[in-house]
Amino acid sequence: MTTPNFSRLPGFRDFPPEDFALRQHLFEAWRRASRRYGFLEYDGPPLEPLDLYVEKSGEEIVGQLYNFVDKGGREITLRPEMTPTLARVLGERSRGMAKPIRWFTVPQLFRYERQQRGRLREHFQWNADIVGEDSVSADADVVALAIDALRELGLTEKDFRARVSDRRLLTAVLREGLGVAEGRLGAAFGVIDRFRKMPPAAVVEKLESEVGLAPGAAEEAAKLFASLDLDGVAERFGGNAAVTAAAAPLTEYVAILRDMGLGDYVEVDLTIVRGLAYYTGIVFELFDTAGELRAICGGGRYDRLLELVGGEPLPAVGFGMGDVVLGELLADRGLVPPYRRAVDYFVVVIGEEQRAMAYRLAHGLRERGHRVVYALREQAVRKQFKAAETEGARAALVVGPEEAARDVVKLRDMKSGEEREVSVEELLAGTVGVPSADDTAGSGPGTASSAAGAAP
Ligand code: HAM
Repeated sequence: MTTPNFSRLPGFRDFPPEDFALRQHLFEAWRRASRRYGFLEYDGPPLEPLDLYVEKSGEEIVGQLYNFVDKGGREITLRPEMTPTLARVLGERSRGMAKPIRWFTVPQLFRYERQQRGRLREHFQWNADIVGEDSVSADADVVALAIDALRELGLTEKDFRARVSDRRLLTAVLREGLGVAEGRLGAAFGVIDRFRKMPPAAVVEKLESEVGLAPGAAEEAAKLFASLDLDGVAERFGGNAAVTAAAAPLTEYVAILRDMGLGDYVEVDLTIVRGLAYYTGIVFELFDTAGELRAICGGGRYDRLLELVGGEPLPAVGFGMGDVVLGELLADRGLVPPYRRAVDYFVVVIGEEQRAMAYRLAHGLRERGHRVVYALREQAVRKQFKAAETEGARAALVVGPEEAARDVVKLRDMKSGEEREVSVEELLAGTVGVPSADDTAGSGPGTASSAAGAAP
């Protein structure tokens, strides 16, 4: 008989506590940063109708869907990204809501990708979006939020950069500045998007064959995009009114980020296009400065998506930041906090006659918010102290026969080894002992709604 193989699916992860701790560390930083910027947490269903993504997300994501037909005959899919869900949810309820709407979420997403460093088939992605505001300060606020969350995790301008661009400016440069025909703009976006992933000769070849530029012009365009920033645009296309006008929002955006003191984190790079189809304006990606990893985060403005999914025509801007690349970057920089088990008290029972008192004490302390464990079966005292160490207890409470008779216990500070006698009454009143460590920060209230549809 062969043993069945129940191994994990490729591209999926288990999260034993020591790995879960890093995930929680990221989530807590994301949630704290979101709240500082006034964002409210929401969620949606992990399964969505297939149609929500087809056309709206773009070919790349649609090719990676985990889709199937459900028992009610519906074409559905595991969510590969959150933005269409946000558009759908707001499409149903945004009328009458105060604008701007600032919402964030941390969903698990599924894409059938080729597994490689930084890319898995599931990941958690922090999304923060501002809906109902088209001013550039909304664009600046979301990228500032993404930057601040990374700073909070210990990363600095030495570690990462926001590469920013604007699809409207890129369109103006291509059409007005370089004479790309209207019908070839999509192809030009595709080539620019892959600019940094291809050797220069291949870029030139594609600009000729796919975009229709003449050989000399293609070479010039390839050189230009390699380092085109706002000064470069002004220098090269300053005389062109359409290009100058298209550069205004990005110029204002960079100025706002400088005013915030985040200028060192921002780099204009017109080769940032974003693969997703729905972006309409400023777009950005965060990258490690060493250039070793894939994008940490990506986002931008998408002013037509809500209308496309049947809602109010509302402008929107936001980003998604995944846990995979970020976890790798923190590990590379030595910024993953050491994994530590921690409880407040380990109750040590000297003899089984004291067990009843131990239960009363442990439960009383737990009711008061302390983290308490004890041996679940009779065990040598030496072993119990060993277990207290393994559990990371800050103090052991030793319940012995002589102490039990007086309703006191011995409190041993596990770090210093010092022992003193304390009364059970004082312990439960919280006037002695170790202060309760509050490790619940970050588990915020969700505002998820439950619009259950009709059963099949
Ligand atoms: P995206 O660029 O597809 O954007 O994903 C955003 C981030 O999620 C990436 O930069 C990366 O960190 C992470 N990510 C994506 N796919 C994977 C994967 N297979 N494995 C690990 N990490 C991954 C979006 O999804 C947009 N919906 C973001 C957005 C929100 N735009 C506006 N609002």
